Amino acid sequence: MNFDTVKLAYFSPTGTTRKILNGIAEGFGAENVRQIDLTLPQMDTLVSNEVRDDLVVLGVPVYEGRVSRTAIARLKRLKADHTPAVIVVVYGNRDFEDALIELNDLARESGFLPVGAGAFIGEHSFANENRPMANGRPDAEDIAAAKAFGSKIRAKMNDLVSIDEMSLIEPPGNRPYIDRDRSAMEDKAASTMDEKCTLCGECASLCPVGAITIEDTVKTDNMACILCNACVKHCPEGARVVDDPMINKIVNWVSKNFQARREPETFI
Ligand SMILES: Cc1cc2nc3c(=O)[nH]c(=O)nc-3n(C[C@H](O)[C@H](O)[C@H](O)COP(=O)(O)O)c2cc1C
Ligand code: SF4
Ligand code: SF4
Repeated sequence: MNFDTVKLAYFSPTGTTRKILNGIAEGFGAENVRQIDLTLPQMDTLVSNEVRDDLVVLGVPVYEGRVSRTAIARLKRLKADHTPAVIVVVYGNRDFEDALIELNDLARESGFLPVGAGAFIGEHSFANENRPMANGRPDAEDIAAAKAFGSKIRAKMNDLVSIDEMSLIEPPGNRPYIDRDRSAMEDKAASTMDEKCTLCGECASLCPVGAITIEDTVKTDNMACILCNACVKHCPEGARVVDDPMINKIVNWVSKNFQARREPETFI
């Protein structure tokens, strides 16, 4: 089967998932690559996104060993029907735990047929110079692995005569999925150092859940914030921070204990 168009559907607040998906598309070598960026809040009200006749690459970041909750709601708005899909999770070098199997199940429920799966590594959303966690990834090796994966998917699809023949993958993970108690995190959020802020509005325009409003100072809706760190990584003045003792303790522990480089894993 020949696919001229590949659609990349991703939720990617700090951009690493988007980079991996574009690497996969390049390796696949489709004539047309369409981006369905599910990162911004307007995607919550998207009426329909027709993806029925294309090959779709679905990509999400791993949050606490699972698929980001915000991404789930948006992925469910895609309209698929026996649509072949490549499913991809991107994680910050700790572990992807049950995220890939959860994405596989979500894709199946939504009408996709997963033909390949991958777990790739991206710079951890909470990483910085003092607290390195996969800093700078995906790097050239990761992108090469993404391209190689894309070309293997192309070979699998080329060999197929019909969708019904397709062998589906069974990615690693457990059911029921890991379920951490998040109650202590609910009101945690990024905040602004007012003395550095120029009220430029960049953070408000890129927040995936619309948690930021610009008034006489920058206001954050703590209950809405998903701690994705997009505002922290993109504020031109370095004025946004997640600075909470409990979060700092967890993140420092992760940084200390998960330094050994993990490599992409793919399943076809
Ligand atoms: C709230 C939150 C939870 C996270 N949990 C995990 C995790 O369980 N394991 C891991 O290795 N990385 C974890 N990460 C890191 C992200 O999966 C990683 O940085 C990913 O590359 C971000 O994707 P994006 O750049 O597309 O936003 C977490 C990040 C956030 C913001
Ligand atoms: S991006 Fe930074 S400088 Fe601009 S409004 Fe937000 S916090 Fe202020
Ligand atoms: S306010 Fe929260 S949800 Fe919005 S961009 Fe910043 S960290 Fe992400």
